[in-house]
Amino acid sequence: MSTEKRKALPSRAANRMTQIRSSGLRKLFDLEEKISKTSSQNILSFGLGNINIPVMQEIIEQLKTALDDPTSHRYTPNAGILELREVLASRYASAYGLDYSTDQIVVTSGCLEALIDTFIALIDPGDEVLVHDPTFGYYACQIKLCGGKVIPVPLNEKFELDAEAVKEAITSKTKALVLNFPCNPTGSVLSPNQTREIVETATDSGVIVISDEAYEGITYEGHKHTCAAEIDYENVIVISSFSKTYCMTGFRIGYVLANPDLIAPISLVHQYNTACANRPAQIAARIALQSPPSIRDGMMEELTQRRGETIKAFSSIDGIELNYKPLGAFYIYPNVKGTGMDGSEFSEFILKNCQIVVVPGMEFGTTTTNHIRVSYGFLNQTDIQEAGNRMLNCFNS
Ligand SMILES: Cc1ncc(COP(=O)(O)O)c(C=O)c1O
Repeated sequence: MSTEKRKALPSRAANRMTQIRSSGLRKLFDLEEKISKTSSQNILSFGLGNINIPVMQEIIEQLKTALDDPTSHRYTPNAGILELREVLASRYASAYGLDYSTDQIVVTSGCLEALIDTFIALIDPGDEVLVHDPTFGYYACQIKLCGGKVIPVPLNEKFELDAEAVKEAITSKTKALVLNFPCNPTGSVLSPNQTREIVETATDSGVIVISDEAYEGITYEGHKHTCAAEIDYENVIVISSFSKTYCMTGFRIGYVLANPDLIAPISLVHQYNTACANRPAQIAARIALQSPPSIRDGMMEELTQRRGETIKAFSSIDGIELNYKPLGAFYIYPNVKGTGMDGSEFSEFILKNCQIVVVPGMEFGTTTTNHIRVSYGFLNQTDIQEAGNRMLNCFNS
């Protein structure tokens, strides 16, 4: 059959797919590819939510030995290898004083699997799910795939979530609230008190809290992360992973912790979704957690330096404003309105004129389109300084 005839056929995708769009970043990446072919300068990308710092050597050596044992080549129990769930349980006990049994933990293929398992397990068509804005774009698509309705709740000017805003957004149809602090894209964090007020507001209205704590291990200037389950162990589902904290994005290992009522349906979805997470990656995750915390020192020192350089580079440009303190993750989220451009125009402008990639705020919701997300996960300090010089030359001339 000719391609023309094929195109004339109605879409055979499920109706739910009409609500799902591929990321708007495509246009930017296409432009990046085009420019990289013709430009004499290399492209400096603050676009990726990935880290290029190896903390892995100790982990890899032990993993290589483990792989010689054929038992490490098999499926694992659905919930994950017991040894990993045991070390996770002791970590949550020592770090947050939370008493999870190994039956309350399901190991997944990254946070992303944990998130969609949770949404499938909890959301009925028409249920409303509160998601702060700006936020990580995957939540909205995953919620829509489950038939849920996304209700954006704006963050305040410091990119924190106010309990009052949550309260205002709750209706009789609200099923869950998704929290993500430290936050992608802003790098903002919450104080223990703010977390308390938000969780209590949700719990008082019967709204389940789904807390994506993917960046819990990356905080600065002494900020101590509060796990949302410290506030309400019964009503909070905690999701996290090894991707960011241990620079293990490609290993795809995450997990969910919840009370027995909530973990049971999530565990069932996980069983029919993937059966189990990849065994060698679970072994690597166990080794990571059992290693001395100092294996992360070099990574945190490097990220701290990069954060300083990135803030300096972008704050030196007239019209770019960073009026809050990003104390977590590896992102800053400045407002570029003072340059006379919105976030999308600015992103296109510095790609064309400075060969620098940043992500426009419109990728993270509708309330902060004058902002850009700048990730320092993948550029070393020299490249960040070089980016600063390119911008200075470009904007000051
Ligand atoms: C907020 C947030 N949650 C989850 C993920 C994905 O995590 P994982 O690699 O564990 O699936 C990301 C990745 O960028 C993220 O920013």
